[in-house]
Amino acid sequence: MSELNKIALKIISNGKGILAADESNRTMTNRLDAVNVASTPENRLLFREMLFSSEAMKECIGGVILYDETIKQTSSFGKSIPDLISSVGSVAGIKVDTGIKDLANSSEEKITEGLDGLRERLKKYYQLGARFTKWRSVYIIGESYPSKLAINSNAHALARYSALVQENKMVPIVEPEVLMDGDHSADSCFDKTTEVIKKCFEELILHKVDLTGIILKPNMILAGKQSKNKLSSEDVSKKTLECLKNSVPSEVPGIAFLSGGQSEIEATENLNLININNNTNFIMTYSYGRALQQSALKIWSKNTKDIESTQNTFNHRARMCSLAAKGKWSNNFENK
Ligand code: G3H
Repeated sequence: MSELNKIALKIISNGKGILAADESNRTMTNRLDAVNVASTPENRLLFREMLFSSEAMKECIGGVILYDETIKQTSSFGKSIPDLISSVGSVAGIKVDTGIKDLANSSEEKITEGLDGLRERLKKYYQLGARFTKWRSVYIIGESYPSKLAINSNAHALARYSALVQENKMVPIVEPEVLMDGDHSADSCFDKTTEVIKKCFEELILHKVDLTGIILKPNMILAGKQSKNKLSSEDVSKKTLECLKNSVPSEVPGIAFLSGGQSEIEATENLNLININNNTNFIMTYSYGRALQQSALKIWSKNTKDIESTQNTFNHRARMCSLAAKGKWSNNFENK
């Protein structure tokens, strides 16, 4: 077993998943504005360190994805944030893309940037304690979208990123996110997601990336947010499994889904059914941002001194996700 494979398995095995706490300062400011909390470096740290020191971290969170600001911060307990995370047996990770920009010659679509100087930044992040990384590319669905141009150029960047990350002894999370925005059908999401993921693996293989040392972070197969023909959770799970079975090479150890705008319960229920119906050898778990943090943020915003209620809310959500990662969740557990 390679070292990279060991790190990947440590993050996603035994019902553990990933806490995506890597919102950029801009995104975090939107989240904090929405609940009327000032977006200062202190407040961003305060909310995040509360999550990282919660009870459920030990059993449920195998890895935390951090943002550049957070990985360099020191918690109020005096430990660096990566040390705080590893002290509870979890692994610190870092988002290393520098964001999405309009794609030249297809300006409705996006290309993810961040390759320039990446090798040097990776070395610094490793020294700070990071052992895995994240790079997210996004794709819209439309009549002629995602275009071949968006699919090919983003896959190429994901593969160059992954090769550099592995060169620096860290596990790359490969995140091609086909967005939920729009009124497209679930069939269309299925077809486009399959095409996007297949192209990513074609490029990863071309760039000699060790597939046993990556984690794939895809979207689930869902109808667009504005579509009137939503799939049942059972069908979401079956279509998602079929798509991944068709497009992901068997060497990949695990798949950690993004929540992408699903509600907390929806994201939990769909993951639970994916695990109940799992007919693949892949570990299927979560790498949720909003679906792990939303309720905790709401509770915290009512009283930013109430650490206990905020942590209890996060603990509950993390435990529900962890049960779902084992196919053992039930709606009955939601009424704490
Ligand atoms: O890149 C996206 C985040 O890491 C996951 O966030 O679960 O809110 O979609 P989300």
